[in-house]
Amino acid sequence: MHSVYVFDAYGTLFDTNAAVARHAGGLGEAGRLLAEIWRRKQLEYSWVRGLMGDPSRNFWELTEDALDYAFRKVPDADRSLREALLEAYRDLDTFEEVPATLRQLREKNARLAILSNGSRDMLTRAVRAAGIEDLFDTIFSAEDCGQYKTAPAVYEMITTSFRLYPDAVSFQSSNRWDVAGAARFGFHTVWINRSGEPDEYPDWAPDAILPDLRSLPKLC
Ligand code: LAC
Repeated sequence: MHSVYVFDAYGTLFDTNAAVARHAGGLGEAGRLLAEIWRRKQLEYSWVRGLMGDPSRNFWELTEDALDYAFRKVPDADRSLREALLEAYRDLDTFEEVPATLRQLREKNARLAILSNGSRDMLTRAVRAAGIEDLFDTIFSAEDCGQYKTAPAVYEMITTSFRLYPDAVSFQSSNRWDVAGAARFGFHTVWINRSGEPDEYPDWAPDAILPDLRSLPKLC
């Protein structure tokens, strides 16, 4: 049992494809490509701005910028759905197993936290919309430290706040690059490989790999 179980948000707790899926009727075949470019550019912008040392745009603004780029790349996608897609992104569905798994961890007296690039407003709204806000002790937004993952300062918010050594923290993320950053910081890491991706970053391997969060309580 670790002292605290920390979760990445987008792609780990919340299904980033759910916004486009809700408007699949209006988007048609173009929806899949739009969703893929939207997510890829959202992350790319966070890495580039992180490397630039530029905190001027939070993750919600990067999410809007990425969607605007995706619409330019996918002209068949109906741009009149922009506001509806952004609204849906504010209230993303969790993956099916998330609420029950978090409740199981709480029943084992685990402390739970979110550590996300998401802006504070994004995260507050997302956990409330998903009905899981009462399951977390604390929610940490990278916006509060003016950097993006994989900057060590982002992971350090956890050890500073809980007054823990890094290896007392179990960090769960579906993003393998995020797992690499957390592993380098010293967390115990669990890669939630939802899409069955090939492994990478061999020098920063996860301590465990799971297809979803269901079996996490058994590891505790
Ligand atoms: C997050 C994104 C990067 O929640 O998944 O931090």
